[in-house]
Amino acid sequence: MNTRFTPCRITGLIIIAIATAACTPAERPAVRTADAGLTERRSSSAPVPIKLAPGWRRLDPAAVTGGTAEKLAVARRAAQELGRTLGGTLQSAVGQDRDYVRGTEACRTAAPTIARTVSATHRAQVGRTSFRVRNPDNRPAPWAQPVVDQRVGTPLLMAGPEGAVAFMAPIQLKPVCTVCHGQRALIPAEVRAALAEVYPEDEAVGFQPGDLRGWFWVKFDAEPERVP
Ligand code: HEC
Repeated sequence: MNTRFTPCRITGLIIIAIATAACTPAERPAVRTADAGLTERRSSSAPVPIKLAPGWRRLDPAAVTGGTAEKLAVARRAAQELGRTLGGTLQSAVGQDRDYVRGTEACRTAAPTIARTVSATHRAQVGRTSFRVRNPDNRPAPWAQPVVDQRVGTPLLMAGPEGAVAFMAPIQLKPVCTVCHGQRALIPAEVRAALAEVYPEDEAVGFQPGDLRGWFWVKFDAEPERVP
């Protein structure tokens, strides 16, 4: 066996495994946080006071109408599409011909590219973020920072300045994710080495199944025609 390809092969197998696990938004309450003690368990029905960024307020998804209700529907679809497409694209990147070099490259390029495509399709900005990121580009934007800091484990709809609307949906860590996001010592050495090469500042390790891993986020800026 050529050990040079081992990380790629492992990554490929993992990708196939996560393709079905799918990074769909966990529209479920009470995601356990990675930092035990920072937040308590929350129920989606109980009104929890959440501090948002200046100029932002929380909206009740059940009460919104018109354009905001449409945006909420688009946001849910966009977040699901991001998760689904990500899994599918990684799977096909590895492909039947088992091109592990291409599969490894896809690890690095797929997520940002897919996020851009999904953003364009839905005329919104779409991405993933976390309190501990692997890719520094995924660090939270200022409008999302308080939600991230408070580890909000339920889907959240928000209205911001100048007609902006944003949606965040928590992502729960599944057992298969731990191969790349679990305790550092338990990540296979080849995977660790492959990740370290591309992400020298990787913070996205040390998670356990059930942990809150991060969020899908979707943001609609004010529509130009509404701006005077
Ligand atoms: C093959 C290794 C691998 C597996 C398995 C994996 N990830 Fe990742 N994950 C990555 C890489 C590489 C990135 C950085 C990609 C990018 O640029 O967004 C990443 C980024 C993320 C991000 C964006 C925030 C950040 O840290 O940059 C989230 C959220 C995430 N992963 C969740 C998951 C979940 C949930 C699972 C399991 C369903 C999972 N990952 C499985 C490698 C993996």
